[in-house]
Amino acid sequence: MKYTSGLDLKYYVEWGSCSWNRLTHLALRHLLDGKDDFSQKDLLELGPRSGKMSCLFALLEASVTALDIREESLSIAEQESQKHSVADKISFKSYNGDLSILEDDSFDLYFSKSVFFAIPDHYEVLSHLQRILKPGGRAVFIENGYGNGLIHWLRKFKHRHWDYSGAHFLTEESLKPFKEIFQIDHIERTLFPPIYCICATNTKTSSPT
Ligand SMILES: C[S@@+](CC[C@H](N)C(=O)[O-])C[C@H]1O[C@@H](n2cnc3c(N)ncnc32)[C@H](O)[C@@H]1O
Repeated sequence: MKYTSGLDLKYYVEWGSCSWNRLTHLALRHLLDGKDDFSQKDLLELGPRSGKMSCLFALLEASVTALDIREESLSIAEQESQKHSVADKISFKSYNGDLSILEDDSFDLYFSKSVFFAIPDHYEVLSHLQRILKPGGRAVFIENGYGNGLIHWLRKFKHRHWDYSGAHFLTEESLKPFKEIFQIDHIERTLFPPIYCICATNTKTSSPT
């Protein structure tokens, strides 16, 4: 499958408004870097949950490693990959959140959607991603923003049964580690719902020791 073949992203994006679809299109364009597919590319996704985005990357010819801290979701993700006949192109694994398990320079591309808000220490994870991604590797983070006070209140009301105590929604201030660790090529923000799409490149010249 080629990205140019009239792909309908809605299924793979799975949830959220049309803004999430639009930003995912932007993400794909950044990761593809002018190519039609991801052949010969190793892609890391954190937090795949249902695995739909991992399947999309695999359908576009990437070799995908997808790590999630919740083991329960991975059997659903496995079934999803079988449904699309891409199980042999994706390795779904559970881990404890410590990215030391991945070797330096082992991936060409990185993607996550709605995951960093659940990660307390962005510096730690981003530093690992810098180490794990090859020099020049591209990364996209599509993340829930905090938004203004009213939007945040409405969200909390809509999802009033969710536990927000451990949520770290992105703000302009919390973009700092992304900007310090990666070269930022483009940041797209939407107001409602508040989403950040951060398109970045790993400009390290060699892995830190
Ligand atoms: C809101 S869900 C988003 C799932 C999927 N990316 C999507 O957009 O539908 C957040 C996912 O991130 C996972 N997660 C949270 N912290 C993580 C971490 N440090 N590393 C990998 N996955 C993580 C959760 O278990 C969950 O599957």
